[in-house]
Order: sequence, then C-alpha cells, then structure tokens
Amino acid sequence: MAEDINRIIDELHIYEKKVLKAFESLGSKLSPEEVMESQKMDIKPVMSAAGSLESKGLIKVNKKVDEVISLSSVGKLYAEEGLPERRMLKVLGEKEALPMGELTKKAKLDKSESKIAIGWLMRKRWAVIDQGTVKITEDGKNALGKNENDEVLLDKLLESQKMLLFNPSKIIQQGYDLLVKRKGLIDVKKTTKHTLEITQKGMEILDAGIDLVEAATQLTHSQLKTGEWKNLKYRGYDVHAEYPEFFPGKMHPLRRIIEEIRDIFLNLGFTESRGPILESAFWNFDCLFQPQDHAAREMQDTFYIKNPQHSKLPADDLVGRVGQAHEDGGATGSEGWGYQWDKEVARQSVLRTHTTCVSARFLSENKPPLKMFSVGRVFRRETITYKHLPEFHQVEGIVAAEDINFRNLLGILKEFYKKLGFEVRFRPAYFPYTYLSTECEIYLPEKESWIELGGAGMFRPEVLEPLGVETPVLAFGLGIERLAMIRLGIKDIRMLYKSDLGWLRNLPVTQGIDLED
Ligand code: DAH
Repeated sequence: MAEDINRIIDELHIYEKKVLKAFESLGSKLSPEEVMESQKMDIKPVMSAAGSLESKGLIKVNKKVDEVISLSSVGKLYAEEGLPERRMLKVLGEKEALPMGELTKKAKLDKSESKIAIGWLMRKRWAVIDQGTVKITEDGKNALGKNENDEVLLDKLLESQKMLLFNPSKIIQQGYDLLVKRKGLIDVKKTTKHTLEITQKGMEILDAGIDLVEAATQLTHSQLKTGEWKNLKYRGYDVHAEYPEFFPGKMHPLRRIIEEIRDIFLNLGFTESRGPILESAFWNFDCLFQPQDHAAREMQDTFYIKNPQHSKLPADDLVGRVGQAHEDGGATGSEGWGYQWDKEVARQSVLRTHTTCVSARFLSENKPPLKMFSVGRVFRRETITYKHLPEFHQVEGIVAAEDINFRNLLGILKEFYKKLGFEVRFRPAYFPYTYLSTECEIYLPEKESWIELGGAGMFRPEVLEPLGVETPVLAFGLGIERLAMIRLGIKDIRMLYKSDLGWLRNLPVTQGIDLED
C-alpha cells in the first residue's frame, strides 16, 4: 500500500500536485475557481489536472448543468398582451362562434399570428373549426377564467426576468415544455458547474506529503552537457497508462503463410518458378499423361476458356512425343493409353487446375540436377461452401537428380510440414502422372483426426521421357488454404477472402512468422 502511494506520488504531474495541494488548506469540496485562485493557475491546467486526478481515483469531479431561462422580446410581448390563442379565446368567450377573418380582426391579430393562434386553439382543444367558422368548446369555456401553465410561466418570467430551472414544480415544467415548442419565446442558457471533491485515496496521498518540485520532462542540451541532469527530479512513468488503440498495416494472414512457405523452400535451396494461370490443356493435362477422356478434364472440374479458346503449343517434337506416349507409350517403354490422341484437345485454353503444369514446363526447360518450387492460384469448378472455393493456392515442387527416390520425397515433405509445425503421415494414392504416389495428411490434435493436404509421387516415364528428362523426379503439390485455416483456427475457408476488418485487425502481427530469422 505504501509502495502504491509512493508510486502514485512519483507519477503526479506538477499541475496535479498543485490541484491536490489546494484541498490541504481549503477543504474537501472546491470549485475550479477556488483552486485557480489559491494555486495561481489558469482554468485549463486546473481542469486537465482534475481530469487525470479523477482517472487515478484521487478526486471526484461533479458536474452540475444549470438551465437558466428568460423571455425573448416576442415572449415578453406575449407575456404582456397574452398569447395569440388567449386573445382569440377571449373574443370567442363573448361570441361563441365567428368566421375566421372576423375573429382575427376582433382579436387584433395579424395574419401570421392568426395562424399560430388557430393552431394552438386546436391543440389546446379550446375551439373547433366548422366550415370556416371557429367555435368555442367546453374546454375553451372552462379555460376562460384561468391561466394555463405556459401562461403561468410567462407571468413569472415577466416578473423575475430570469429563472433557474432547477427541480421545477409540475406547473413550471409543463409550462416550460409547452413554451420551448414555440420557437423564439424563451431563451435557454445552459451552464455547467464543476465541483472537485477529494477522495479517501486523495487524502492519503496528501497525508503522505507531496512536494511541489517540478519534475523534468524535457532535457536541454546544457543540462546534459553540464551533468546537471544527474541532480534533476524525474516524474515516474506509468507503464499501465491507457493508450489509444491503433492498427498498423500488416500482411494478410494468407499471404503471410505463403511467404513462410516460400521461405522454407528457399532455405532448402529450391529455385522458385512461376507459370501462367491461363494454361493450355497440353501443359495442364496432356504432358502429365492424363488421358484426354480423364474425369478431371470434364466440364464440372475445369474452367475452359472461350477467349482465347486456344493456346499455343510448344515445339512439334515435344507435342509429338507426348501424343505418342498417350497412344502407345512411344519410347517410354509403356503401352500408353491406347487411344487416338487429339492435338486440338490439347490446344484448349483452361484455367490451370493445379500447379503441376509449372513443374512440367520447368522440366522441359531445365536440365537436372534441379530443385524447383512454385506457389500459385489454381481454379476448379466448385460450389462455394465453408470448405470449398473455386480458386485457391497450391505449392508445387520437384527435385530431379540421379539418385533421387521415393524415400527422399517423403523426407522432404516431412521436413516441410515439421517446419510449419505439423506432423505428417502418408497414404498410398493414385495420380496418372506418378508412380509411386502418395497423399499427405496432417494430424489435428484438437479434432483427433487426420486431414488430407496434397499429393506427391515419382513422375512416371510417360511424363519424363517426352520432356527429355533422364533422371528420376520426385514431385508434390500441396494445398495452402487448409493450412492457413488450421493455423488461424477458422472453420470457414471464406474468411480468408472476406476482408473482415475486425478479424484481420485482431490477428497478431507476427502470427506464424518467426521474426528472428
Ligand atoms: N496436382 C495434384 C492435385 O492438384 C497434386 C499432386 C499430386 C502434385 C502428385 C504432384 C504430384 O506434383 O506428384 O491434387
């Protein structure tokens, strides 16, 4: 407790100290003016110090809003001559019913006042209008001899000029409510009165004793040079003080995981490559030994492009070798698929359905040994749901060298997922372009289950021979969005594309990336 008090005192600003000191001699409840006077301060420092003392619980700032009302010039006139509707009522009291024009004249009102008067006659139910004739009602008759509440207040204001609207009687309040509805009759002035009241905690601080030595906040050149700074008093720094929330710009979490994945492969010595999103069926399917009637090529799965409907094919001899591999295996040692391969089908433009076409392109242009990876968008005709999008990201990779084998593939994938913090296992699988083939799954401890993340395998001779590759090639293609979802703890994949600012702002800036690297 004593420590607490000392810390509070240490953190007090000189203005706060001065305001507190005022309570020492003047009592426990003070007006800002009293503080100003006794401490020789301006109103601004007093009020700002009062605010911060209040937030520290050392004083209480009570606010009282006063409403002072008075008559405007029109108001005064009405107070003297009577409200327009009262003047009409008086005439009606003698005549019971009169045409509107005559009534106005008799009541000595001008046109605009007459309108107001009629309006209020209706509102107060003092009269009704029947075909241009104004008739007094029972209420009107009853009202003849006595003042309504608005008139009572008008009289009072005429008498006293000003009135503090504090805890008003029912009559005054109702009169006020009626009069403020009419523009320009009464003036309302609001003034706020503050009272500063010291709290128990504030007293304890005062009792502990505060001295009014000014603490240094900004050091000058000469204070530093002469060493004077060593003897200065410094104000304590409140590290728990509230600060305004702010949201610095940061990378989108999906982009962040992509960058992390790129980092991993670059650190493993892989070369990064890219390929076009608008691809020919040739690179997307044919040179991966996917037969032209393969299910994945069907319209449900693949976006075929109308414009440009066809894409350029590579050199004839490569195209020829690929076609041959499909038809009878060509020089690959395989029997092929045994059907008539159609170059026109291979020319069709598609949005790539996987990034494996980037690997095929890379192999056609580079000689082993090589290690390549590529991150990019792929497209499939999927209905959008919480777990499917027609557009998502994959990371693709290959390693080509003399002694590469399936075990190396498993080792690389294990290492990759380990770096991302996941445990991986492998299941046998089938892809037209690999043998052996596998699917990787990672374990989700919270769900106690395994989920599938991508495919991998050793490229078949039917893929490699036409591309002119003579070494074994291991290959893998892995989904990224699912990894992001697990990492971020989200159940709906659409969250990644929704730009939900609240969610994005609240994600930690460093999620998933080790800044020390
Ligand atoms: N392309 C496959 C897919 O999109 C994944 C894949 C499987 C990529 C095996 C590969 C591979 O490179 O060898 O589902």
